Amino acid sequence: MLLFLSVPIAAAGAGAAPRAPATNPVAPRQKGCSINALRGATEKAPHATWPGLFKPAAVDPAQGSSRGRAGGRAAAPDSMNRDAKDTRPMIDLTVDGERLKSAVRRARERDILIPTFAQMKDPALIPEGVKSRLLHTGLWDLDARNLFRITWHNDPVPRGGGFGGVNFVEFPRSLTGVEARIFALVGKWFPTGAHKVGAAFGCLVPRLVTGQFDPAAEKAVWPSTGNFCRGGAFDSALLGCASVAVLPEGMSRERFEWLANVAGEVVATPGTESNVKEIFDRCGELRRSGEDLVIFNQFEEFGNHLWHYDVTGRAMADVLRAGETLGGSVFTTGSAGTIAAGERLKELFPASKVAASEALQCPTLLQNGFGAHRIEGIGDKHVPWIHNLRATDMVMAIDDEAPIQLIRLFNEPEGKRYLARRGVPEPCIEQLELLGISGAANLLSAIKMARWYEWGAGYAVMTVLTDSVDMYRSRLRELAAARGEFSSEDAAVACHRYLLGQGTEHVEELTWPQRKRLHNLKYFTWIEQQGKTQAELEAQWYDNGYWSRIHGQVGEIDALIEQFNRMTGLLSHRSD
Ligand SMILES: Cc1ncc(COP(=O)(O)O)c(C=O)c1O
Repeated sequence: MLLFLSVPIAAAGAGAAPRAPATNPVAPRQKGCSINALRGATEKAPHATWPGLFKPAAVDPAQGSSRGRAGGRAAAPDSMNRDAKDTRPMIDLTVDGERLKSAVRRARERDILIPTFAQMKDPALIPEGVKSRLLHTGLWDLDARNLFRITWHNDPVPRGGGFGGVNFVEFPRSLTGVEARIFALVGKWFPTGAHKVGAAFGCLVPRLVTGQFDPAAEKAVWPSTGNFCRGGAFDSALLGCASVAVLPEGMSRERFEWLANVAGEVVATPGTESNVKEIFDRCGELRRSGEDLVIFNQFEEFGNHLWHYDVTGRAMADVLRAGETLGGSVFTTGSAGTIAAGERLKELFPASKVAASEALQCPTLLQNGFGAHRIEGIGDKHVPWIHNLRATDMVMAIDDEAPIQLIRLFNEPEGKRYLARRGVPEPCIEQLELLGISGAANLLSAIKMARWYEWGAGYAVMTVLTDSVDMYRSRLRELAAARGEFSSEDAAVACHRYLLGQGTEHVEELTWPQRKRLHNLKYFTWIEQQGKTQAELEAQWYDNGYWSRIHGQVGEIDALIEQFNRMTGLLSHRSD
C-alpha cells in the first residue's frame, strides 16, 4: 500500500525507538528499518558501500558516462592540468584573530552557541541543555538556541518541539499517476518556514568562526528572491547583528511583512522573481558605499552548496532505505544550492540522475532563455557560480501555470473534495499544504522525470519542498479575486491537465558538451560582471578535485565552530 507520510522514519539517537508519525499512518518501511545502522555507516565513512546499494563510482560519474556518448570533447586548455593536485580550499577559512575575538565577545554577550554540521545532521549530538530550552521555544522565535533548529529533524510542531527523524512526504500514486515512489523533504518545519535558513547559515558560519565577519561591527547583506534573505535576517537577528535584506519588489506580501519586523533594512529592487541582475547591481552599490558590510551572496557562496551537499544530502539518504533504487533527484533551481544534495546522492547511488528544473517562461538552462515567471524562489536568468554542471544530467522546464493551478487544487475546498473523490487518501490531502509554488513545481518535475525514464514501482525519485503554502496565502486570495472561486470544474482541469497530464515535453538529457555549454554561460555573469577569474571558471570544469575539496571542508568548519564555542566560555560553565 502506498502511503503519504510526513514524518520521520529515523530515530534521533542510536538505540532510541523509532517514533510513530504524529498524524499519519505508519509506513510499512518504518517497521524494523535499519536507518540507525545506515546512519552509523555514513557518518564514519561517507563512501562506504551500504547494504543493498551500489558502490560509489571512482570517477566523476557524469564525465565517465557521457564521454562515450558524446564521442570526444575539446581538450583542456594548456593552462589546466586535470590531474594536478591543487589543494587550495574553496571556502576561505583564514582566521582573523582580532575580529574573531570581537565576534566571540558578541556571542558571549548574547549567549549564542553555534551548532556544528554534525549536530544538524544528527540532533542526538545536541547538548541536553539546548534541547530542554527548546521545549519552551517557538520554532520561529528570535532565540539564539533556535540555531540548533536548522535541521531537517525538527518535530513538526510550531512550539516546543524536540528532534526526531527527517521530515519528508511520500506522494501516493493516486496523486502522481506514476508507479515510481516520489519522496520530498519538507522545508516548512525550519525556523522561517523554509530550509533556506540553512543555506544562509552555511554562508555565514565560515566567516563568523574565522573572524572574517564581525557581527558587532559589520552589517550582513542578504541578496535573494525571498527566502534566503528571510533566513539570513533571522540568523543575523539571532547573532544580534544588523542586516540588510535585498529582494525584488514583486515577491509575495508574506515575505515583506515578516522582513519588516526582523531585518534591519529591506531593499526592494525592480522586477520580480527572475530579476537577479538588479539585485547584484544593488549589492555593488552597497559595496561601493564604504559602509562596513559583508555581502553573503548565495549564488556564489560555496557555504550554500556545502550545507546542502552535506546536511540535505544526508537527510535525503536517510529517507531512502537500503535496497531502494534511487532513479534520480530533481530540484527547481534558484541559487543552485539545494541541487548539491543530488550530487551527494549521486555519490551514494551512482546510477542515479540529477535534474535541474526551471520555469518554462524563463528557460535559461533549457534554451538560454529569459523572461518573467511566477515560481517564486527559482529561475534567475543566469547560471549560479556554485552550480556544478558536471554533475547535472538533465534540465527540464515546467509551465508556471501548472504549479499555480496545483496550489489552488491542493488548498481550495473544491480542489480537496475533488481529490478525495478520486481516491487520494485523506491524510495525504491534509498535508498538501506543505507544498509552496516551487514545491508543486518540484512534484511535477519528479513526475516528469519518472515518466521520461519510464521508472516503475521499485524506483524512487527524491525532491524537496522548500517552503509551504503559508508563504503564498495572499497569492491564493489574489487568484480567487482575479479568476473567481475555484470550482469542481476548475479542479478537474487542474488535476487532469496540469498534474496527471504532466508529460515528457521540455526535457533535455545532457551530453557532456551540453553540460559544458551551460557551464560556459557562467562566464557572462561571473567573469564579465562579478569579478571572478577565468582560471577558476576553468578549474570548476577541468580540475577533478575542485568540488570534492569543497565537500572535504566540513570537518575543518566543524572544528572551527567547536573552537568558537569554547572561546565564548558558554559551554564550560553551563549544562549545555
Ligand atoms: C521557494 C523556493 N524554492 C526554490 C528555491 C531554489 O533553491 P536553491 O536556491 O537552493 O536553488 C528557493 C531559493 O530561494 C526558494 O525560495
